[in-house]
Amino acid sequence: MNNSAYQTLGFESIAEGIYLLTLNRPASLNALNSETFKELAHALEQVAGNDEARVLLITGAGEKAFVAGADISEMQMMTAVEAMALSQAALKVFRQLELLPIPVIALVNGYCLGGGCELALACDWIIASENAVFGQPEVNLGITPGFGGTQRLSRLIGPARAMEMIVSGRHVKADEALSWGLVNHVYPQDRLMQEALSMAELICQKGPLAVHLSKQAIVRGRDLELDSACQIESQAFGLCFSSDDQKEGMTAFLEKRKPVFKGV
Ligand code: CAA
Repeated sequence: MNNSAYQTLGFESIAEGIYLLTLNRPASLNALNSETFKELAHALEQVAGNDEARVLLITGAGEKAFVAGADISEMQMMTAVEAMALSQAALKVFRQLELLPIPVIALVNGYCLGGGCELALACDWIIASENAVFGQPEVNLGITPGFGGTQRLSRLIGPARAMEMIVSGRHVKADEALSWGLVNHVYPQDRLMQEALSMAELICQKGPLAVHLSKQAIVRGRDLELDSACQIESQAFGLCFSSDDQKEGMTAFLEKRKPVFKGV
């Protein structure tokens, strides 16, 4: 499979080191089907294997939705075994996303529901447009979340708020999502990409190894108890001192100039 063969995704380099993945099924508000998961897995493998990639942005095509959930028409007639296989495939791809060596920002540009919210939660952080709407509306369909929502949402905004969202299925608008810590920033829709790009460009100026190891310590450490988690940080910190970038970063500071990082 090559990028141009994708049926459900756009995947492109939009600036040096910055890649954009677009969920692209606007007629069904970018609903996730089984093809999307195959293509996502393939695209993420390419990102992980690309030394030039520094930041990944993920958004939805059109102005109405990031992703309105898993594809209900595909799920309607599934057996229990098929539904569990879908859940397992999604969990695997979302974990692959979470463990990417580079930061991933979700640009939520409209409805972000069910599996869409779970996809955004597997990114490192979320920025949203003012018209963004979050929700885990699975209970409306007689099902639970299946792509990690019960766990990642609870960890991000706390079990009580996650419980409220999941058992009521209610929509949470951008301003409330911001006050709950579900999103980091809210912008007018026409500024969302520009703000994401500014942030991505800022990250691209930093030491790549330091960015990678910082992300790894946060992602790997957050489910451990404090002592073990801090050991991950300590090893990352020590490892940085084996790099040219640490020498360059500290020398540049002392020489009062901008560092030139090489990622080694
Ligand atoms: N799956 C399949 N198709 C979907 C979809 C979904 N999750 N969400 C929207 N669509 C389709 C609609 O069927 C419609 O198609 P047609 O034009 O062919 O009729 C098209 O997208 C536009 O949607 P609406 O006409 O419904 O647009 P609206 O503006 O009236 O409403 C909405 C927008 C509130 C997002 C509404 O579409 C909606 O509630 N969608 C379903 C949301 C949902 O329940 N998501 C959770 C799915 S289950 C899940 O994700 C499980 C899990 O955790 C893994």
